[in-house]
Amino acid sequence: MKVIVTSNKEIAGKEAFKLIKSAMDDGAKVLGLATGSTPIPMYKEMIASDVDFSNMTSVNLDEYVGLAPEDPQSYRYFMQSNLFDKKPFAETFVPNGKAEDPEEETKRYNKVIADHPIDLQVLGLGRNGHIGFNEPGSPFDVETRKVQLTESTIEANSRNFENENDVPRYAYSMGIGSILKSKKIVLMAFGKEKADAVKGMIEGKVTNDCPASVLQTKDDVTVIVDADAASELS
Ligand code: F6R
Repeated sequence: MKVIVTSNKEIAGKEAFKLIKSAMDDGAKVLGLATGSTPIPMYKEMIASDVDFSNMTSVNLDEYVGLAPEDPQSYRYFMQSNLFDKKPFAETFVPNGKAEDPEEETKRYNKVIADHPIDLQVLGLGRNGHIGFNEPGSPFDVETRKVQLTESTIEANSRNFENENDVPRYAYSMGIGSILKSKKIVLMAFGKEKADAVKGMIEGKVTNDCPASVLQTKDDVTVIVDADAASELS
């Protein structure tokens, strides 16, 4: 695991973007992407650059169950407005929050991932150590599935909703097994509220209690954190 500490998230976004460009120079065709506040500086770099993504495919980590693509709180909507509408990709995949049959939807999404093996996966980090919506206790060997969000994640994500009761309680999430299959991983984390999770991920035991700690077992993982998120590291 390579760890890069930057003075702020804008510089971190530039560093992450450099890794994307270099993977594309080496032939990467499929990017695994995340939502949330963390990747926004990197998406801004992508948009401002003259790099052409029109031959690239993206596969997103997750989506809230029950939200339609045109719902402003949905992750599909987030991706359109923060990246795809400004930097077109050839194909973009996000789980369908409105799918009628959750089991069929997870099967469909697992086939999407199998048909488009991820060259570089971008991850954020939950305060409780989650990656994707793989909450503490998640097994390390599963594919996409419907998961129940923890109270800590519901509370953290309520900042994007009018009130906490509006936050969906379930999501479709790529499983840790699927995440570990990607060739390279770049995880970013910013701010004091991520410092404990960053410490657990990098210096803690590999345990389901801190799902991101599993990244210690994988080659080609780069963690980019700001000084606040790195503040608990020894
Ligand atoms: C989002 C995702 C989540 C977030 C994490 C951090 O697609 O999979 O794991 O990366 O909850 O969220 P932010 O970046 O908003 O702090």
